[in-house]
Amino acid sequence: MAIRFVLNGSPVEVADVAPHVTLLQWLRSSGFRGAKEGCAEGECGACAVALWTSAPGESGSHYEPVNSCLLPLAALAGREVVTVEGVAPAPGELHPVQEGMVALGGSQCGYCTPGFVVSLFCEYYRPSRAGFDPESISGNLCRCTGYRPIAEVARAMPAPSPTDPRLVQLGRRAAEPAPCRGADVPYLRPASLGETWEMWESSPDAKLIAGATDLLVYANQKFERWSTLLSVEALPELQELSLTDEELVLGAGVPLSRIEHYLADAAAELTALGQLLPLFSSRLIRNRATLGGNLATASPIGDAAPALLALDARVELASRAGVRVVPLSELFMGYRRTSLAPRELIRAVRVPRPFPAFQRFYKVSKRTLDDISTVAAAFSLTLDDAGNVTRFGVGLGGVAATPLAAPTLSHLAVSKPWNEQTLDALLNEASRVGTPQTDFRGSAAYRRAMLSQLLRKFFFESTSSRAEAAE
Ligand SMILES: Cc1cc2nc3c(=O)[nH]c(=O)nc-3n(C[C@H](O)[C@H](O)[C@H](O)COP(=O)(O)OP(=O)(O)OC[C@H]3O[C@@H](n4cnc5c(N)ncnc54)[C@H](O)[C@@H]3O)c2cc1C
Ligand code: FES
Ligand code: FES
Repeated sequence: MAIRFVLNGSPVEVADVAPHVTLLQWLRSSGFRGAKEGCAEGECGACAVALWTSAPGESGSHYEPVNSCLLPLAALAGREVVTVEGVAPAPGELHPVQEGMVALGGSQCGYCTPGFVVSLFCEYYRPSRAGFDPESISGNLCRCTGYRPIAEVARAMPAPSPTDPRLVQLGRRAAEPAPCRGADVPYLRPASLGETWEMWESSPDAKLIAGATDLLVYANQKFERWSTLLSVEALPELQELSLTDEELVLGAGVPLSRIEHYLADAAAELTALGQLLPLFSSRLIRNRATLGGNLATASPIGDAAPALLALDARVELASRAGVRVVPLSELFMGYRRTSLAPRELIRAVRVPRPFPAFQRFYKVSKRTLDDISTVAAAFSLTLDDAGNVTRFGVGLGGVAATPLAAPTLSHLAVSKPWNEQTLDALLNEASRVGTPQTDFRGSAAYRRAMLSQLLRKFFFESTSSRAEAAE
């Protein structure tokens, strides 16, 4: 399979691209050794590159930093990418970001530096940029310089010069990912669901791929290989974001960063999701990771499921046979097993309205940011005027082989006053919920204790929020 894309302003054609080959592997074997391989699993950001991207509806475009160690080379077909070799305006010159790194001592051993330069390069062109936003380098790790000088570089970045030719490029929409089709093509990228069903029938063993932030870790670390990957990236049907009086619809193929911005603009009251997304790995991962990919892994420690279970979300599943909508809890069948039928995919997540009045998402992990949960819990609560519970939603991660909805807790709380007595009854029942296991992240006893603590925390936060509202 041959693919064409634009690298640092020059067209490139690469022949015989195997589906598991990453952009980073190709770059380094082709003499572009600026991007580094620190971890090959999305943890360090030393491999960051800038993708020229337009969101649906965006009249212009922006540079989006992503981890090239988790980006299939084939996914670049039709796109444009800038690596650290391409940020400078001309040979022998430095980009203002690079000048800042030199002047303010932002680099010592230099291993992380290309990744920081690329992330800051993307931030440099962000239109509403003001001061230092820590999110701009979230996902870039530095082991020796420390972050203070790098933050100072970000703070000192001037506004782009009006004559900077990149501003002209960013005024236009970015090139769309090109469809990849044909018999014997190992990386298929259909442009519609209808085309997806046809391709999937011709290549029944094709493995679905979205942002690749889960799948390519298996390729890099466990040497998993696939005869064919079938990308959902160019399917408009999976890109829906809408909010009506009845529901919020989140397309399964929308990158999490875009969902984060959409929720901030459109549905701030959906706090459980709003609280979860900044804790989900790093900006570099969220720029590619999708909700569909997260739910389809059915990981017991995936973060989206607990928040969505507490909000009574449903998933819309699509196949050639049609569409079915099922409660999210019915998607999870067992450890990393879903109820998806062969050649069926997740099209969207549907969250019914009205949203619960009070919600919280809690994540217990070894690090606050850029880490997977040991235990996650989301709770949602609505009370009537007399203070009795009309709705109590629960979503749990890390306490069973699958994410759990815990309906026994929900039923126990409904119609009861929201007080310490009800909390005690819930804590008693919570000691029977799930089947926590001991692993390297935490013991079964620790996980059980965390569940109780998070329930207590939710009780105290919700009651103090009510007390504040009453004052
Ligand atoms: C460094 C790092 C940090 C991470 N941190 C977190 C974290 O904090 N919280 C967390 O929950 N996860 C985390 N993850 C896991 C991963 O990023 C998420 O699960 C992500 O949402 C996966 O989405 P994706 O689009 O990249 O999926 P992909 O990797 O493309 O696919 C994952 C699986 O889903 C299937 N799939 C994809 N889309 C669909 C669809 N629409 N319908 C049906 N099946 C589909 C694929 O076939 C594959 O089996 C992390 C991963 C890395 C590498
Ligand atoms: S090499 Fe560490 S994130 Fe890519
Ligand atoms: S300068 Fe050495 S890791 Fe950052």
